[in-house]
Amino acid sequence: LNLVLLGPPGAGKGTQAERLREDFEIPYFATGDILREAVRAGTELGKRAREYMERGELVPDELVCDLIMERLDDPDARDGFLLDGFPRTIRQAEVLEKALAERGRQLTAALLIEVPDEEVVRRLSGRRICTKNQHVYHVEFDPPKTPGVCDQDGSRLIQRDDDKPETIRKRLEVYHRETEPLVEWYEERGLLRRFDGTRDPDEVHRHIRATLATLR
Ligand code: AP5
Ligand code: ZN
Repeated sequence: LNLVLLGPPGAGKGTQAERLREDFEIPYFATGDILREAVRAGTELGKRAREYMERGELVPDELVCDLIMERLDDPDARDGFLLDGFPRTIRQAEVLEKALAERGRQLTAALLIEVPDEEVVRRLSGRRICTKNQHVYHVEFDPPKTPGVCDQDGSRLIQRDDDKPETIRKRLEVYHRETEPLVEWYEERGLLRRFDGTRDPDEVHRHIRATLATLR
């Protein structure tokens, strides 16, 4: 299974990716997580990516594409992968398509999780992530057992820098302008599968699993 997850910020891509990775035992690469890690570590990439991320803008294609190309050649990814947050522009989708073709592979499906803008704002303002493994929670919709503490690894929960209201609005605007055209792009290739992201996380997960069962 070679899969990409599409959808607006806060659609639940990370939430579903965590579940799917366990179901299928395929590696999961999230460009957002990789970039945030680079920012924390203060690498050259992190220094360049930081200003874009803080503003809610996209990091330039060439920085992100190289990251993902390295991951495709990871020995663990030979039998499949799950990409979250990539591609995010038509240019990135073209780079991915070409890279897979060169390796004699192709995408199985692009999974689109759909959620309206008002819901995105509610979700991102209540989101908390753990400091150790980026596990995702929501203060109201998916709270941890102990407030402020990760159920899985006991680390502290924090709010992401780009989950401030003005940055959330900017990210939505960038999504509609730069990323939404990918919906049609994948539809034309017969790869798009749509999911109602307003359902509860377990239900969205069941729908995705049922669809993937027909594709294997
Ligand atoms: P990235 O980290 O990818 O952020 P994003 O796409 O904005 O997505 P999010 O992580 O915010 O949301 P999600 O859909 O994963 O939702 P989640 O599961 O957390 O990117 C960050 C930045 O990095 C970008 O702005 C850009 O600068 C840069 N970047 C990354 N990739 C790039 C690329 N390819 N090119 C260029 N730049 C790039 O859920 C959200 C909340 O809702 C959580 O609190 C969760 O608990 C809750 N929730 C989830 N599902 C449900 C549900 N069904 N019902 C109720 N609540 C739910
Ligand atoms: Zn955790």
